[in-house]
Amino acid sequence: MKFFVDTADTKEIAELAETGLLDGVTTNPSLIHKSGRKFVEVVEEICGIVPGPVSAEVVALDHETMMREADVLRKIAGNVCIKVPLTIDGLKTCKKLSDDGVMVNVTLCFSANQALLAAKAGATFISPFVGRHDDNGFDGMALIADIRLIYDNYGFDTEILVASVRHPIHVLESARIGADVMTAPPSVIKQLFKHPLTDAGIAGFMADWAKTGQTILG
Ligand code: E4P
Repeated sequence: MKFFVDTADTKEIAELAETGLLDGVTTNPSLIHKSGRKFVEVVEEICGIVPGPVSAEVVALDHETMMREADVLRKIAGNVCIKVPLTIDGLKTCKKLSDDGVMVNVTLCFSANQALLAAKAGATFISPFVGRHDDNGFDGMALIADIRLIYDNYGFDTEILVASVRHPIHVLESARIGADVMTAPPSVIKQLFKHPLTDAGIAGFMADWAKTGQTILG
């Protein structure tokens, strides 16, 4: 499963990129707002840090303006993936861009039928929002399992990008189901490294090592 980080914080992205586990980045208008930076400038910087797909979202609601915005965003770097909402205009834009060889991430997906439409429109990625689904009394991971089943039934190439990930169990379940990608905030990715037995083990080894009175570096 590929790991994308869901943030526009370039310091966090650079830190995680050093571990070699980052396959891409997702941003959205709220994350750009949180960064306090210019959209195009921050996307350009992210594209320089991570060679994989970097999602940049259009903000227009009509197809023509979405296309014009996508034209600006796709010029930023070769690894920009245009993010469009799951609407009729969004899918028209998806179809046109994917026919033109541009990566497209269809976002704000909350049903398996919507995911089917995005695949038929040639989406590179479909982003079902599991956390927001759970928040509203639905089963986010059941949605991922449904989409996996449907995409496999028909051999769609569209990659399932599990979004709105809130905790490590979402990551584990995504991997069990066979999602292609998950995108999570840096805090959730950092939680994945943690285990109390790892910490306890390090403390035990350090205590015994100190008793030897030795150093490795001399
Ligand atoms: C994905 O591309 C979205 O940016 C993101 O996962 C939304 O997550 P949220 O529901 O925590 O805002």
